Amino acid sequence: MTTALITGSTAGIGAAFARRLATQGHNLVLVARDTERLAEQATELHDRHGIEAEVLSADLSTERGIAAVEARLGDRTHPVDLLVNNAGFGNKGRYLDVSMADELAMIKVHVEAVLRLTSAATESMRSRGRGGVVNVASVAAFVPRGTYGASKAWVVQFTQGAARDLAGSGVRLMALCPGFVRTEFHQRAGMGTDNIPGWLWLDADKLVAAALADLARGKTVSIPDPRYKALMGVVKLTPRGILGGVSSRTGRKYGPQ
Ligand SMILES: NC(=O)c1ccc[n+]([C@@H]2O[C@H](COP(=O)([O-])OP(=O)(O)OC[C@H]3O[C@@H](n4cnc5c(N)ncnc54)[C@H](OP(=O)(O)O)[C@@H]3O)[C@@H](O)[C@H]2O)c1
Repeated sequence: MTTALITGSTAGIGAAFARRLATQGHNLVLVARDTERLAEQATELHDRHGIEAEVLSADLSTERGIAAVEARLGDRTHPVDLLVNNAGFGNKGRYLDVSMADELAMIKVHVEAVLRLTSAATESMRSRGRGGVVNVASVAAFVPRGTYGASKAWVVQFTQGAARDLAGSGVRLMALCPGFVRTEFHQRAGMGTDNIPGWLWLDADKLVAAALADLARGKTVSIPDPRYKALMGVVKLTPRGILGGVSSRTGRKYGPQ
């Protein structure tokens, strides 16, 4: 039996990873901040699928939280075979409307935590000659979209580079780039979603099934939906100025501050 560690496991895309991997018989280490919600999730997944589900309450915007998850990933007596760096969030507002503390918290969760957790996991995986890491980025990585898009662009670049450096080691890394997914994300960020057309929305369970299939195929970047694959093809051909205008409007209607 293998073990997967998922950050941000209690909602949205992370919860879909937890359900899918539990269905496939993987033991889980569930990471998020809300301890009560983690415990409920662990009990439910254990009871429904007969797997072991361990909980690790950690705030990845803090040194202490990152260090706790690093320590778990470095525990070679209980190895982790698959790491899903999924925890993330959006900030409410455009550049300069967002406080520096919130911008830095995003860099800590989306960049520093991803770097440190990937490194802790892959060091141990490399010595065993097998393992996988999925770093959840976004299609926002490919368009100008504030610190959020910039941090996700880092995730894609970092993952592609690390995958290349670890080629042949038995360790696979993949950046997952979803489009709009119905989760708690937009509500938590105070974003209105009525200007996002219905056809752009993805289902978290289908997204995760496609992502895991892409990981098994050895992809290093996954845009697991034909609609977004086509859109990203158009994005590549569109001048950055036009792209910035469109992307800064779509899905960025914020409620009152
Ligand atoms: N939804 C979309 O449209 C979309 C599109 C592209 C990419 N993504 C990316 O997908 C990932 C998951 O997003 P989602 O849509 O599933 O969001 P979500 O439904 O809001 O879930 C976020 C999860 O992350 C955890 N989390 C948030 N901040 C954390 C922190 N500081 N430390 C530890 N855990 C934290 C939350 O639990 P606690 O609050 O208990 O900590 C929760 O389990 C993110 O990286 C996001 O950027 C989302």
